Amino acid sequence: MRKPIIAGNWKMNLTISQGLAFVSSIKDGLNAIETLDRVIAPPFVALPALADLLRESQIELAAQNMHFAEKGALTGETAPGMLTGLCRYVILGHSERRGLFGETDQGVNRKLHAALTHDLIPIVCVGENLEQNEAGSTGTLISGQVRAALAGVSAADAHRVVVAYEPIWAIGTGRACDPDAAQHVIGAIIRGALRELFGDQPAEQVRIQYGGSVKADNITSFMRQPDIDGALIGGASLKTSWVELNQRAAEARV
Ligand code: PGA
Repeated sequence: MRKPIIAGNWKMNLTISQGLAFVSSIKDGLNAIETLDRVIAPPFVALPALADLLRESQIELAAQNMHFAEKGALTGETAPGMLTGLCRYVILGHSERRGLFGETDQGVNRKLHAALTHDLIPIVCVGENLEQNEAGSTGTLISGQVRAALAGVSAADAHRVVVAYEPIWAIGTGRACDPDAAQHVIGAIIRGALRELFGDQPAEQVRIQYGGSVKADNITSFMRQPDIDGALIGGASLKTSWVELNQRAAEARV
């Protein structure tokens, strides 16, 4: 059985004190939802303060990015080893990183290997844009992104990776993917590619999230899909309804 995982990506929002105030207000409610893995991805600067605040809870933190190198002359970057003790997860290859900061499939793959080496759980994002979707290239594109991101990972390590399917046209637009269409991409295309890479059993263990305009109102319809193991959520992760969204996700899976 795959344990569902709901992750909130704050992106470049909330100062340290705003983040502390927000998490303090949702912490107990969120901590009580034990049938889910509950993850919060704040900006880097807030990780130490939030790690302290959440030390006694089961709520986990994620970084929104990292470099693959151990250290070096890389101004503005953060090494995997610098995240040790601060967070358990790291989001890799988010479409904003790929689209705005020039991240490539090869770079994402190097980061994924670095994350596994440092015992961080990568949440690796894949997704097509509207043009690719309308041209009918979603399958080829997503399967290519998954294969590139996971190249060189052993079947034994596959279960340590989380994949997030985030169609770019659905991110921040209020226009979520149809749940059946998301199930098709996640179940047939992504899990299909994982089966070819790792074999049936390891592929069944990989958790795959949907992301793109998920809110408390539509989370249930995604969680009811057999291959969708949770969600990666931007805007709605900054709202007070975050606990309710997590509760609905947990209830949809019972
Ligand atoms: P959204 O963002 O929930 O605001 O659409 C999703 C994401 O970028 O992960």
